[in-house]
Amino acid sequence: MNPLKSSSRVELNGDARPDAPPSEAGDGRAGSGLDEATTSMAIHAQSDTHADMKMHAAQRALALVEPGMTLGLGSGTTATYWIKLLGEQVRDHGLQIRAIASSKDSELLGRSYGIPFVNFEEYRRIDLTVDGADEIAPHLALIKGGGGKLLREKIVASASKTFVIVADESKQVEKLGHFPLPVEVIPMAAPLVSDSLQKLGFTPTVRFNQDGTRYITDEGNLILDCSGLLIDNPEEIAAKIDSIVGVVEHGLFLGMADLALIAGAERVTERTS
Ligand code: 5RP
Repeated sequence: MNPLKSSSRVELNGDARPDAPPSEAGDGRAGSGLDEATTSMAIHAQSDTHADMKMHAAQRALALVEPGMTLGLGSGTTATYWIKLLGEQVRDHGLQIRAIASSKDSELLGRSYGIPFVNFEEYRRIDLTVDGADEIAPHLALIKGGGGKLLREKIVASASKTFVIVADESKQVEKLGHFPLPVEVIPMAAPLVSDSLQKLGFTPTVRFNQDGTRYITDEGNLILDCSGLLIDNPEEIAAKIDSIVGVVEHGLFLGMADLALIAGAERVTERTS
């Protein structure tokens, strides 16, 4: 199938990113039945070109799924497309897989399609995780966490044999840092961590929900969104942030992604570096 010929769009999950509304067989592969599955989806009109591109990237990622796999489900709008496409394969075509989710939202969505969920007690290793990203730099260095799920996303990614990013082309950058780097912190340490991050050159701000309450992660922590610094040496900055007491995790995903499926207006491109 050529996913670029599809005009299907799906309704998205909520989201809590800093700069956007905190609201989103023949050969035995799942991708083989995708044409029918896609057209049978619960489709909702959404005229945004980026939404089309996200859908196309997610469709391409579906072709990587094989029956029997343990899959990691990412979070965010692009990952939501992937979960819905996967969910249709499970619900409508009997695809046998199991999943571990990177957020409560993604698990809830997956369960609504009948995707069976497991945990790391039962399965230590994930075959394939598909997730979105906020920025994709050379060598597939990423900023993630725009939706606030970076901690579980990093755990799931770290346990994955193959970690695939799905994104539209607007996420590609030469240097990380245009998108504020999310840092998850223990609430009581937030002022101290904020001071330390400022010393590194960032301008950290506590993330808020649209209703004016502080955004709380699935693990009960705060997010500091760190703007104002284009990151020349991600490894060095990552190590410095890691060393700040009170930091739980940060959104720099370095050396983790194996493949990025980047959708443009005409085609989906595969990037491995
Ligand atoms: C959530 C994430 C998302 O994957 C990232 O924000 C990209 O989201 P989207 O696909 O909606 O652009 O890291 O914490």
